[in-house]
Amino acid sequence: MAIKIGDLALHGRVFLAPMSGITDMPYRAEVQRFGAAMVFSEMIASREMVTCSDRTRRRADRGDSSGITGVQLAGRDPDLMAEAAIQCEGEGAQLIDINMGCPAKKVVGSLSGSALMRELPLACAIIEKTVNAVTVPVTLKMRTGWDDANRNAPELARIAEDIGVRMITVHGRTRNQFYTGEADWEFIRSVKDIVSVPVIANGDIDSGAAALAALEQSGADGVMVGRATRGRPWLVREIESELGSQDIPEAPPKAPEGDQLVDLIAHHYQAMLDVYGPELGCRIARKHLAWYAAGRIGARDFISRMNRMNDAGEVLVAIQQYFADAALKSVPPAVGEYEARAAA
Ligand SMILES: Cc1cc2nc3c(=O)[nH]c(=O)nc-3n(C[C@H](O)[C@H](O)[C@H](O)COP(=O)(O)O)c2cc1C
Repeated sequence: MAIKIGDLALHGRVFLAPMSGITDMPYRAEVQRFGAAMVFSEMIASREMVTCSDRTRRRADRGDSSGITGVQLAGRDPDLMAEAAIQCEGEGAQLIDINMGCPAKKVVGSLSGSALMRELPLACAIIEKTVNAVTVPVTLKMRTGWDDANRNAPELARIAEDIGVRMITVHGRTRNQFYTGEADWEFIRSVKDIVSVPVIANGDIDSGAAALAALEQSGADGVMVGRATRGRPWLVREIESELGSQDIPEAPPKAPEGDQLVDLIAHHYQAMLDVYGPELGCRIARKHLAWYAAGRIGARDFISRMNRMNDAGEVLVAIQQYFADAALKSVPPAVGEYEARAAA
C-alpha cells in the first residue's frame, strides 16, 4: 500500500537517508532519478537557518526537483526550531524532519540530535512548536534510544504521534553504538506496534535482500538507505524492484555501466559545478568520484589523480576515459581475467 504522509502520497518505499556532507542537492537529484520515495536534505542547524547564510540556504534548496524532498532541522530551542521550520516552508520545503538521531559529540553536547532522547520534555516542546508552526507534515528521525539500558524509541514515537508527527524513522542502533554493531531491525517493530503513522526502518540496508529482511523483521512501512547509496545512486531502484513495487516512476536502467555510467557521473559532476562553482565544485566532487570508482580496477590511481586535478574540463575527460571502459566492472574480474581481456 502506498505510504501517505499527510497529503503527500509517495511512490515506492525506499527513502534516501539524510547525510551531512553527502545528500546535497546534486546528489539528491541523482537518487531521485532512480525513483526514491523521498529524499532528505543534510541536517541544518535551526539557528543557522534562522540567521540564514547562503550556504545554509543552499542546503535547504530543492532546486527544480519534481520528487519529494524533506528538509531536516536540528536544534534544542523550540522557538528557533519553529522559526526555522517556517522559513523552510516559506522557501518551498514539502516536509520538515526533526533530527533526534545524530550521535556526534558536538551535536549531543549542545543538547541536540540524539541527546533529546534523554530529554523527553524538551523533545516534546520542540516537536509541538514545530508541528504548530507549519502546515507541511513534520516527521521525526531517531535512534532506538541513548544506550542499551534506555531504548525508549517506542515511548518517544508514541508521544510524537500524539503531538502530530506524521512519520517516524528509526535507525536501529542506540546513540552509544554510533555506527558499531548491527542495526536491530526487530526492535523497530516495538515502534511500529505502538503508532499508526508510517514507520521507516533504517540502518545497514545495502541490498534488496537486506531491505526485505528489515521489513519482515520490523513490520515497517518502508526502508531508508544511507551509506550504501554512496557511489551507487541506482541502489534505491534496485531495492524498489526487489520489493516488487508497482508504482515507481520510470527510471534509468539499474546498475549502469559504460556510456550510461559515464553519463550519470558526468551529469552529477556538472550539477556540482553548477551549484558550487568550478573551484569548490571540483573539490566537493572528489569524494563522490572516489565512491563511484570504489571496487573498480585502477580505482586507487584514478582517485589520486582526481585529488590532484583542479581543472573541471580535465576532470570530465578523465571521468569519460575511466568509467567508459566496459572492462571496469564494479566487481573486479577474477585475477588474470582483466589482463586477458585487455590483451584480446
Ligand atoms: C556521513 C554521514 C552523515 C550523516 N548525517 C546525518 C544527518 O545529517 N541527519 C541524520 O538524521 N542522520 C545522518 N546520518 C545517519 C544516516 O541518516 C543513517 O541513519 C545512518 O547512516 C544509518 O543508515 P545506513 O546504515 O543506511 O547508512 C549520517 C550518516 C553518515 C554516515
